[in-house]
Amino acid sequence: MNAIIDLARAIPAAATAPALTSLFGLPDEPPHERVLLVADPASGLKAILAVHSTARGPAFGGCRFWNYADEASALTDALRLAQGMSLKNAMADLPFGGGKAVILKPAGWRNDAAEREALFAAFGRAVQSLGGAYITAEDVGTTTADMRQVQQHTGFVSGIPRDGAFGGDPSPKTAWGVFVAIEAGVMRHLQRNSLDGVRVAIQGLGAVGMHLAQFLHDAGATLVVADVNPVRVDEARARFGAEVLPVEQILSAEVDVLAPCALGAVLNSASIPTLRSRIVAGAANNQLATPADGDALHARGILYLPDYLVNAGGIVSVAREYRGEGEEKAVMTEVSRIRERVLELLDRATASGQTPARASDAWARSKLRAA
Ligand code: NAI
Repeated sequence: MNAIIDLARAIPAAATAPALTSLFGLPDEPPHERVLLVADPASGLKAILAVHSTARGPAFGGCRFWNYADEASALTDALRLAQGMSLKNAMADLPFGGGKAVILKPAGWRNDAAEREALFAAFGRAVQSLGGAYITAEDVGTTTADMRQVQQHTGFVSGIPRDGAFGGDPSPKTAWGVFVAIEAGVMRHLQRNSLDGVRVAIQGLGAVGMHLAQFLHDAGATLVVADVNPVRVDEARARFGAEVLPVEQILSAEVDVLAPCALGAVLNSASIPTLRSRIVAGAANNQLATPADGDALHARGILYLPDYLVNAGGIVSVAREYRGEGEEKAVMTEVSRIRERVLELLDRATASGQTPARASDAWARSKLRAA
């Protein structure tokens, strides 16, 4: 395996990476501790492992397998996601720092089983090479089977079903955290003590979105959904009586709550003026394209609950599993604390006169500094 740092290949043209001015970090932010670029020609692996901070403990965050437009986009994604994990893990009071890995989907990828095994074996060796500075798990595009493969080559991995014991797919726990955050937001911002009859739009009915739809449906919410995959929307229509919208209309649906559960950067200068929801709270990482977009939401009277606070259920789950503290009830209790954290954040925002997004960043960064 070749570990390469090749600036010319990583950033082919400044125009393709407008947000990135340094290989080592994000604009106006402290640099990442380590960024490993890995190329393994035998398996086709090209991966970026970004360790943002180990101040609170080893950097913990999932591995994304994605079809990036170019290498610069992959690097930007890895850096942003790793930084987000530092804030998320600090906010959830976990003894872990922030890191993330992205694997660039090889051109002409056929998803052949043997090729996939070889790719994730090479990724496992890359994780091992960091000697425990980074611990991996699932993220978008990776599965429990992939993590089993990774486990053959490193112990620094979680999110694996363990012979009937607690563990595996974190997405139901993520969905539960989003659900309790929505409950808290609705209580405070809409002065409603129940989700009965509350209209919620879900963008993306993947692993998290579908579980979230189930929790909301069970609580009496009315669902409006969209996904690029017609099989997923058909399932939501059949199971929950959900109203289905075209994907380009879901962000501007007239609802009480919008739950982005697909992609990052969906809250931006183009989408925010079109929003017709009172609250935004969802699972997707890095929903705000820029911090100023949080201000723009606030100015419109829309309560935005920061993604890294709301979607911490999955990392709480894999972190407990990793530490051998996986017990379903205890994990659910810990994930449910997201409800109290949302309420405390709203109190802090009111007291400081900041937007919830800015108050959350300040709170999370103070926890990071304290470490
Ligand atoms: P997933 O890949 O299972 O689901 C994503 C869904 O979004 C898919 O059904 C896909 O078809 C749909 N989608 C893609 N583009 C879309 C578009 N333009 N409009 C509507 N739907 C679209 O991913 P998963 O695991 O459900 O995660 C969702 C988000 O939550 C991601 O951003 C992920 O990073 C984040 N997240 C997930 C966690 C987990 O435990 N799985 C933990 C924390 C964050």
